[in-house]
Amino acid sequence: TDPAIIRNFCIIAHIDHGKSTLADRMLQLTGVVEQRDMRAQYLDRMDIERERGITIKSQAVRMPWEVDGTAYALNMIDTPGHVDFTYEVSRSLAACEGAVLLVDAAQGIEAQTLANLYLAMENDLTIIPVLNKIDLPAAQPEKYAAELANLIGGDPADVLKVSGKTGEGVESLLDKIVRDLPAPVGDASAPARAMIFDSVYDTYRGVVTYVRVVDGKLSPRERIQMMSTKASHELLEIGVSSPEPTPTNGLGVGEVGYLITGVKDVRQSKVGDTITNLARPAAESLAGYADPKPMVFSGLYPIDGSDYPALREALDKLKLNDAALVYEPETSAALGFGFRVGFLGLLHLEIVRERLEREFNLDLISTAPNVIYEVTTEDKKTVTVTNPSEFPTGKVLEVREPMVSATILAPNEFVGAIMELCQSRRGDMKAMDYLSEDRVELRYRLPLAEIVFDFFDQLKSKTRGYASLDWKAEGEQVADLVKVDILLQGEQVDAFSAITHKDKAYSYGVMMTSKLRELIPRQQFEVPIQAAIGSRIIARENIRAIRKDVLAKCYGGDITRKRKLLEKQKEGKKRMKMVGRVEVPQEAFIAALSSE
Ligand code: GTP
Repeated sequence: TDPAIIRNFCIIAHIDHGKSTLADRMLQLTGVVEQRDMRAQYLDRMDIERERGITIKSQAVRMPWEVDGTAYALNMIDTPGHVDFTYEVSRSLAACEGAVLLVDAAQGIEAQTLANLYLAMENDLTIIPVLNKIDLPAAQPEKYAAELANLIGGDPADVLKVSGKTGEGVESLLDKIVRDLPAPVGDASAPARAMIFDSVYDTYRGVVTYVRVVDGKLSPRERIQMMSTKASHELLEIGVSSPEPTPTNGLGVGEVGYLITGVKDVRQSKVGDTITNLARPAAESLAGYADPKPMVFSGLYPIDGSDYPALREALDKLKLNDAALVYEPETSAALGFGFRVGFLGLLHLEIVRERLEREFNLDLISTAPNVIYEVTTEDKKTVTVTNPSEFPTGKVLEVREPMVSATILAPNEFVGAIMELCQSRRGDMKAMDYLSEDRVELRYRLPLAEIVFDFFDQLKSKTRGYASLDWKAEGEQVADLVKVDILLQGEQVDAFSAITHKDKAYSYGVMMTSKLRELIPRQQFEVPIQAAIGSRIIARENIRAIRKDVLAKCYGGDITRKRKLLEKQKEGKKRMKMVGRVEVPQEAFIAALSSE
């Protein structure tokens, strides 16, 4: 294909501003998906994606579109909108020349609108500003066109107004993509160089790799080489998604498509790597992407211990498709065998957990998530702590925690409430700007641990849902952090240890000890439940002794009923965990962890 007739673009937007709906409409208008095959959010393949209405994996689709009698090939690369998946957005952007910046005409610019716009600008993309959902009665296209024009420069009159729902304006948008976006440029006679921007594991076909060809050409049956590892593979199939995979006789300059080499693991086809021709390799690889870094760690345990091998297998399978997922085995006295798993954020955790439970039929319990700490001990050694149990026991010189720079957008009436919330989360205000007369952008430096869990929910509830948040990791700071242990009759229960700020240690201790007192049944002896920092006890509860006599309930003489009860009690015992001499039903641990 002649690069002059190719246009590569992506749609970037804040979550729920209607990216997938608009993409659907484009697929329909360009005829690549027939009416009768159309289902909502065609590009979101995974069930979870469809149910939650969010896009996780990027996909690329080729669509034909004619302008002034010339047939063009538009490659649309779908991107996820949630902050956890920003790293996928940046890879998609690197494969495009332009971006449609989509903004909900009833909401205006939100935090991820800005974050994505800045990413697009860093990638030198041409931006087409578009207001969506103009069919909504609450839409204020004039107001937000001015806001958008003000943000990216230009005339409010040039902001396109569309509705992904009704299809209004979408044809003009396709025309504008052809007219305004530059055609890709590359050297067709140079050795082949193609950028891997996504790699997906498919049960039937193995790894399907999505590439954007920059120079030269890739053809079927030739041998290609991964430039970072020098590994070579035969190209079994190469083609374009339109949107079903369609084999072609090669991909040239500027083209976007997929290839299959028969490898089984996405790590062998690494996102960000450059593919070249083995017989005639390129001298230099293309600039790659940074590897996604896990931010949040949590222990994942099967509720039924015999599911441990199944959990390992399931994680191995998910990993084929999710380069950001990291895990290693760990054991807990309370929960048995499980894994320490690293995630990009809480949404990523939730999705992985849900996929494990649903697709692999596992019942899981996850421990309270934590961020990564760097701890320097008295002998000047530094350890990286991804699990509270790794926290050094001796004297600690310094603990460092990861920080983020956060951007919050909201109507100005909520500024006070937002500042109060950020203050209570150890935040440090960096800037405050007015985007328009009634909307404010606040920038804060905050500890990751303070925002990664319930911050967004709090923010939403304090601003009646109007605030939006975006953040990115930015350095670390020394902080007054301690490890709080929970002890049952003097024995530490590892699953409940937590690293918290000193000021919050006491409330964590009180909360956990009183929760456990409710959940742990009485034993034949008194059981103290304590919270401690090192050897210092900061909270204490007692479970009084009682002799539990299940037979006391059946004062009749019904022997079968008695036997049943005794058997039931025995079954219950099996699911008991011993902490020292204390018998704790596993459900108590699970309840204590999940009601967090
Ligand atoms: P993510 O993929 O999760 O980032 O969301 P998205 O930006 O793709 O949004 P999506 O297309 O899922 O749309 C979000 C919601 O807005 C859905 O309930 C859509 O039905 C609705 N919606 C999308 N476009 C329009 C539109 O043009 N008009 C109206 N009225 N509703 C729309």
